[in-house]
Amino acid sequence: MNRLGLTMGEEAYEHALRSDDTREFELLDRTWTQLSGVVGGEYNYATGLFASSLPYDGVHSMLEMGCGCGVAAVLGALAGVPRVTALDINPAAVRTAQLNAERHGVADRVTALVSDLFSAVPEDTAYDLIFWNSPFIQVPADHALDSDLAYHFFDPGYTMHERFLREARRRLTPAGRLFLGFSFAMGSGDRLHDAAAAAGLDVRIHVQESFAAAPEELGTSPVYREHAGDDARVHIDFTLLELVR
Ligand SMILES: C[S@@+](CC[C@H](N)C(=O)[O-])C[C@H]1O[C@@H](n2cnc3c(N)ncnc32)[C@H](O)[C@@H]1O
Repeated sequence: MNRLGLTMGEEAYEHALRSDDTREFELLDRTWTQLSGVVGGEYNYATGLFASSLPYDGVHSMLEMGCGCGVAAVLGALAGVPRVTALDINPAAVRTAQLNAERHGVADRVTALVSDLFSAVPEDTAYDLIFWNSPFIQVPADHALDSDLAYHFFDPGYTMHERFLREARRRLTPAGRLFLGFSFAMGSGDRLHDAAAAAGLDVRIHVQESFAAAPEELGTSPVYREHAGDDARVHIDFTLLELVR
């Protein structure tokens, strides 16, 4: 397990529980709704990076897994994708994605559904583009996710990543492409590579951005100091991966 990711994830989860209210946030020159019970605005750097880096051109059908506020789903629809499906296990996220599709004039192209991974979509439906900004913080397999907000951050035993990659591969059209929003600094890269290999997928970096922070900027935990590099800074990446058949 990744101690840096675990520490950052636990602190972010506690912050999300404390500041859980309905609000708006600005991202990519647009205003977005975020209902209570959904995480979004404070983590919008990665959301914006991933959603604005996906290849929407020529895509006829797109699925955003774990849509949260639905930023990628709405952006895809605005870029001209005619059939967009936005799924989330969190009902408040699904409602938020619907509201944002309405707010940005693409409700006719975006269908938002409550779903545990692919459970709500028919087995034979395939997509040209599948994307998940995943909850890449690994926690022990017996760790109970005790609120809808916890699903934003944590994957017990990485079993959701394993299931997602296995099932997503089957749901791609022949030319379909599969992307995962990830962080090697915070996620479990080895487990992800194993899960991809088991699903018959190669892991390639599509887009990566990194920043460095002094440990005390991140928090008071000694874990931040332990993860500082030779330059005395902690290096964090946000990486959009393509999983290639
Ligand atoms: C890191 S958040 C990404 C949210 C949003 N797409 C974004 O980019 O800001 C992960 C999302 O996956 C959802 N999620 C976690 N487990 C899921 C599952 N088994 N099925 C569907 N959605 C899930 C969470 O509720 C959360 O909205």
